[in-house]
Amino acid sequence: MLPGRSLRTAFAVAAACTLLPTTAAATTACANPTGRPWCDRSQDADTRARLLTRALTTGEKLTLLGGYRSGDYAGAIAPIPRLGVPVAYVDGSSIGVGQPVSADGRIGGKNRATQMPSPTALAATFDPELARLAGATVGDEARKKGNTGLLGPAADIMRVPYGGRTFESFGEDPHLSGQMAAAWIQGAQAAGVFTSLKHYAVNNQEGRDPTQKLGTEAFPLGFGTQGSRYLYNAVVSERAMREIYLAPFETAIRDGRPGSVMCAYNRVNGPYACASRHLLAGVLRRDWGYDGLVMSDWIVGAHPWDVLAHFRNGLDLEMPSPVAYSPALLRPLLQLGVLRTAQLDDHVRRILRATISAGILDDPAGPSDESAIDIEGHNAVSRAVAEAGVVLLRNTGVLPLQAGAAPRIAVLGPAARRSASGGGSGSVRPFRTVPVATALAAHPGAGAVTVETTRDRARAASVARAADVAVVVVRDYETEGADRLCLTLRCPPTYGDQDALIDAVAAAQPNTVVVVQSGGPVLMPWRDRVAAVVQGWYPGQAGGTAIARVLFGDVEPSGRLPVTFPVREADLPTAGSARRYPGTAAQTVHYEEGVLVGYRWFDARGIAPAYPFGFGLSYTSFAYADLRVAEDGVTFAVRNTGARRGAAVPQLYVGLPPIGSATVQPPWQLRGAEKVWLDPGEQREITLPLTDRDLSSWDGGWKRATGCVRVAVGASSRDLPLRGTLGACG
Ligand code: BGC
Repeated sequence: MLPGRSLRTAFAVAAACTLLPTTAAATTACANPTGRPWCDRSQDADTRARLLTRALTTGEKLTLLGGYRSGDYAGAIAPIPRLGVPVAYVDGSSIGVGQPVSADGRIGGKNRATQMPSPTALAATFDPELARLAGATVGDEARKKGNTGLLGPAADIMRVPYGGRTFESFGEDPHLSGQMAAAWIQGAQAAGVFTSLKHYAVNNQEGRDPTQKLGTEAFPLGFGTQGSRYLYNAVVSERAMREIYLAPFETAIRDGRPGSVMCAYNRVNGPYACASRHLLAGVLRRDWGYDGLVMSDWIVGAHPWDVLAHFRNGLDLEMPSPVAYSPALLRPLLQLGVLRTAQLDDHVRRILRATISAGILDDPAGPSDESAIDIEGHNAVSRAVAEAGVVLLRNTGVLPLQAGAAPRIAVLGPAARRSASGGGSGSVRPFRTVPVATALAAHPGAGAVTVETTRDRARAASVARAADVAVVVVRDYETEGADRLCLTLRCPPTYGDQDALIDAVAAAQPNTVVVVQSGGPVLMPWRDRVAAVVQGWYPGQAGGTAIARVLFGDVEPSGRLPVTFPVREADLPTAGSARRYPGTAAQTVHYEEGVLVGYRWFDARGIAPAYPFGFGLSYTSFAYADLRVAEDGVTFAVRNTGARRGAAVPQLYVGLPPIGSATVQPPWQLRGAEKVWLDPGEQREITLPLTDRDLSSWDGGWKRATGCVRVAVGASSRDLPLRGTLGACG
């Protein structure tokens, strides 16, 4: 169900974007196909890649393996000039495509692009169709900016909410992450680029920089030294990997079929991810049957001393330039027979297969052409995702704001006039930005709007007192390269003590609404002292408009949390243990909590979160009834019991019995969810499927439960009114 006209328009735009021209331009490698069997378009990309590989010299093959001069782009795959195959550029992330770097060459300077909401916001929509649309939008922009490949999505599980790249992935749950990543990939690849599913695998922290000199908005890339992403070794059980960390990749590969996978910087149980026989040759290629391109993460993802392992275990492409895969190193190893030419051919075939599937032979991406981008259509998609991802966490009745009453609004906080986003390769210089203050001031339902960005609490309180409603806008700052040092809104100190500001305003104004723009969970010690809390994530370039529309009820809040918001840091599974996080002095991180990640930990330990996974309020209410459980799925009814139209997000969880050596079982694990728009009084019957895998644990292989499986359906991981069982329950 599409909630509005703008979104329907955006769908039409995305559909149009996905149509690739069918005629080859005169300049393409296949303009004259005579004697070039790889130009036969009736063959699939793999066959064509095989044929082209056969026609290459060893020198040509070797240049393909190690990246190429990328100019303003993050990376490039070498051209084959003799055969007219052009260079293939790659860049971007699921937040947008920032390249080419701006002409002034500033550090972090990027040309403009549509800035999408953070993937945490996209995950909060619980709507794979929106993920597909977001992928189609970014994919289209990537192509129009001259890219063949798009460096996303990231499907890294949020293990610790400190993680500097929390905002770039889909949260803490493998089912939700896998669904969103798969749909995003499908959308993006239909727009004519190949995607790169990253960062494979167990890439869950950036590292701590106790000085926090970098990783600020002034220098938007950090360098964490404790538990550094470039060095740490994740010591993690095979079961936790398969069930938690690898599961989203498995789903995304099976259902999304990404053209490439990017292996991570870190080590996993010893070897570096890009050299890991187990992860690459074992899990990815053998178990999942993935025969696509594997590229390294940038600059230090591959290492010369690991060249044999990289080459033999399945790393096809070193990015962005050849070091481990320099021809000077590879050529003698091939000549001596240390490395096999058949494997060289495999690497080349997989590289070409990815670029051929994205049109490099028939319809290569042209030079970057910003004028070809449908800036308005893409803005509409960005706004639609932001609106659907806003999560209403608390509401004593102040929301929605009454447009008819033209309330006087005080918009407060140092972040009120700024839009919020994260740093590093997931940053984008947006075409435009609409901060919350600007959007509220422009809203037709607002009375007098006073914006006060002071940190002075007394001054903010007095402005709040003179209004009917105070909206305090707060934010954090996450960036690639460095983890957050704490989870409060006093950390980092860029915006002052935002917690104290909220308390001062709430003491002066009973109608205080807090709008949080953060990449992931933050602590909210003031949550019971304010009238409403709205979680907006990093909401993208139209974020202020989206949030203002939710506050006024033009848009029903329909987001649900893809992450647990803890009450205190001491409640996290890594609390008090440097071994667990950020790791030992020897850069070893022990994943001792096993499969008890995110809500699985809170449920198993009986710890009450501030706001649980899956939670989010509406301006209406819903009731669940009539659960019927079968081997292949559950059916139930959901009804809108309130007076407004709204979206329920029923969620299906299972509680598995011990299975073989998998004796520790999370009390509940998400296995399905659906966003359902309902009119007042409307009831709908919903069926959510269950597969054998959903009822299985990893015990040296996937083993299906033979005992009693508990089944529950409800509105969040902590609100599960419908209960049933499956199997031998005595
Ligand atoms: C990041 C990748 C990114 C690459 C190119 C690396 O630092 O880890 O996620 O795709 O840079 O921008």
